[in-house]
Amino acid sequence: MEVIIQPDYEAMSKAAAQLVVDVLNTKPNAVLGMATGSTPLGLYLELVRLHKEEELDFSRVTTFNLDEYVGLTVNHPQSYHHFMNKHFFEHVNIPRHNINIPSGTTSNYPAFCAWFEQRIAECGGIDLQILGVGSDGHIAFNEPTSSLSSRTRLKTLSKQTIDDNARFFDRREEVPIYAITMGVGTILEAKKLMLMASGTAKAWAIAQTVEGPVTSMVTASAIQMHPDAKVFVDAEAASELRHRDYYEFIYNAKPGAPRT
Ligand code: GLP
Repeated sequence: MEVIIQPDYEAMSKAAAQLVVDVLNTKPNAVLGMATGSTPLGLYLELVRLHKEEELDFSRVTTFNLDEYVGLTVNHPQSYHHFMNKHFFEHVNIPRHNINIPSGTTSNYPAFCAWFEQRIAECGGIDLQILGVGSDGHIAFNEPTSSLSSRTRLKTLSKQTIDDNARFFDRREEVPIYAITMGVGTILEAKKLMLMASGTAKAWAIAQTVEGPVTSMVTASAIQMHPDAKVFVDAEAASELRHRDYYEFIYNAKPGAPRT
């Protein structure tokens, strides 16, 4: 795992965007795994800027989103469909038919989840999966005790996640209690992972993700088992890391490191 500590949110977002650019330069028809939440907003803003000002091309890209609330229609202002359209898809040139987001309104969840997994496989797997992290250390909606080999499925949200996400809704009672989410096992199959976190509210989750034991109590810790995972954090989110100096030392020494 590589930990990339940037001074602030904007610098973290730009560093993360550079990784997406590198992947697209190597593979213009890459399959990208997309995340929602407030954390990747700066990343999406930068990718949109690069598309508009520097001709970053998404015309051959395919995307799969991590999760969606159950019961929210695609046009609901708090649905992840709406979020992705508003903050990213409406501003770049990804063909509509290449965009895959779990359905929160299907009449048959097991069948939809199986189809979603199959569709990822048919597209050759995810090349780069973008991840945020919940304050309780979850990735996508894989709440504490989710199996580390879980696949796309329905999950009941934890009280902490409902509380955290209530800020986006008018009333706490409006936050859905179920979600459809890629599993931890699904996420771990992506060829590259990039997890982003910003602010002191994420400091505990980041310390557990990077330096804690691999445990289903903190599903983000499963990325320790991935051979190509990068963690992008700002100084606040890095504040509880015990080996912060070491990560900074590695990052600064990187330009002179032997080529692998
Ligand atoms: C939700 C999403 C996660 C996201 C998390 C953190 O639970 N399902 O994918 O990482 O929120 O969101 P934020 O970035 O707003 O803190």
